[in-house]
Amino acid sequence: MATDAEANKRRAALAALELVPSGVTIGIGTGSTVNLFIDALAANPGRVRSAVSSSQASTARLRAAGLAVVELNELPDLALYVDGADEATPARHLIKGGGGALTREKILAAAAQRFVCIIDDTKLVTTLGRFPLPIEVIPMARTLVARQLTARGGRPLWRQGFVTDNGNYILDVHDLSIADPVALERELNQITGVVTVGLFAARPADVLLVGTAQGVQTR
Ligand code: A5P
Repeated sequence: MATDAEANKRRAALAALELVPSGVTIGIGTGSTVNLFIDALAANPGRVRSAVSSSQASTARLRAAGLAVVELNELPDLALYVDGADEATPARHLIKGGGGALTREKILAAAAQRFVCIIDDTKLVTTLGRFPLPIEVIPMARTLVARQLTARGGRPLWRQGFVTDNGNYILDVHDLSIADPVALERELNQITGVVTVGLFAARPADVLLVGTAQGVQTR
């Protein structure tokens, strides 16, 4: 039987389907919520022309669902990107990267004209930071970046045994104070060796669909 959170993720995923124009190519994120969205696309053949994927995992699921996967470089533009998040604020600032796909997710968010984020209501927070902030780093810079993060008051933990689709490592940073997500994203982006910060604030979601037991809230 589906848990409450899974049912709420499904509500948000189905609401996102309503926002998909027919016959376009869309960007697809990564994670359990997006997997439900892919299932919804599979149940509506022809709804999209094709998809650009943010991870090997999503590519495999899209192909298994019979959906064509294309490269971002083949497209003149990208109308829509649908993805989940690990935390979101009412201002639609996000923490992402729990699944380790943050770099390609950030590329798709940057490329898309519209970014629709789908979450269940356990992920809606007033201030980001309870969920440890994932940061993708070049492997040889792992300890260098970790020291810089510690100097800023964070507690970085190396996600050992995990390698991203880009061949890099993830540091999960605990105890960061994220009062100003845009400023912190900008600051952490400047640390040499950082590939991508899992803060999606400079380019927030355009629409946040929050699945709740009472229905879907749109923010
Ligand atoms: C993947 O790297 C993440 O950014 C996911 O979008 C995020 O972790 C949400 O995943 P779930 O939908 O599985 O919670």
